[in-house]
Amino acid sequence: MSKVTSATFFNEFIDMCDLCCSLGWNERNGGNISYRISESDVESVKCDFTYDRPWTEIGVTVENLANEFFMVTGSGKFFRFTKADPENSTAIVEIDELGKNYRIVWGLKSGGRPTSEFPTHLLNHSVKKDLTNGAYRLVMHVHPVNTIALSFVLPQNDRDFTREIWEMMPECAVVFPRGIGVLPLMLAGSIDIAEATAEKFKSYDVVVWSLHGIFATGEDFKTVFGIIETVEKAADILVKVISMGGKKIRPASRQIIDICELYNLDINKSLLER
Ligand code: 13P
Ligand code: ZN
Repeated sequence: MSKVTSATFFNEFIDMCDLCCSLGWNERNGGNISYRISESDVESVKCDFTYDRPWTEIGVTVENLANEFFMVTGSGKFFRFTKADPENSTAIVEIDELGKNYRIVWGLKSGGRPTSEFPTHLLNHSVKKDLTNGAYRLVMHVHPVNTIALSFVLPQNDRDFTREIWEMMPECAVVFPRGIGVLPLMLAGSIDIAEATAEKFKSYDVVVWSLHGIFATGEDFKTVFGIIETVEKAADILVKVISMGGKKIRPASRQIIDICELYNLDINKSLLER
């Protein structure tokens, strides 16, 4: 029996692909996921790895990820079919000792490469590994309808976007008290967007790529899923509010501060200024 396919991290990863697809967040191959596998998990599955595939340049340097192993979705692979055929839809890759190259050690059996957003994923892992002392392991990118729609009409800056989303449900500030980073439309798959996203992840756990989707990061699958689910639910409400004319009875900013004080959360108050 394959050690990889019976590992908990592997099954959580595959289940997440399936769930995101069922929610309409990942049409076709839209979106991608990467997970930094713990040393003990690598130990318990590495008997399934092979080391005969070539090293390939990542395009960015991630020194603090040297010798780490990641599970990642394959570029162009359909989320809908990941569960049925994980060995052709996902890969486990090893980063070399310089943090400059990767090689596939498991998966993508009939060919392929990790997601075209791999530089963005790895730079984000790199930033968060340092900032969280290794606690954060997951980066997810999805294409949810309402958040994307809003990015066509809201000002594309952290403060306005965050405040509008926070005001839809006070719980938002509890789930992402540091707010949302927002990037303008940039070329997907480029090193420029990878570097700009990593810069935002120095301050935030969730970043909106305007006219494209969401990147989010955290310790584990349920945390990151919860952040995206909450952003998208608030975005859904806001789309409805705007569709009804957009007039709000009262701004909820005071309540957001109160709820964060109640839970002793370090809310980024500067994002509430008008
Ligand atoms: P990949 O199929 O290369 O992962 O690309 C999907 C995507 O969402 C690009 O932003
Ligand atoms: Zn995308």
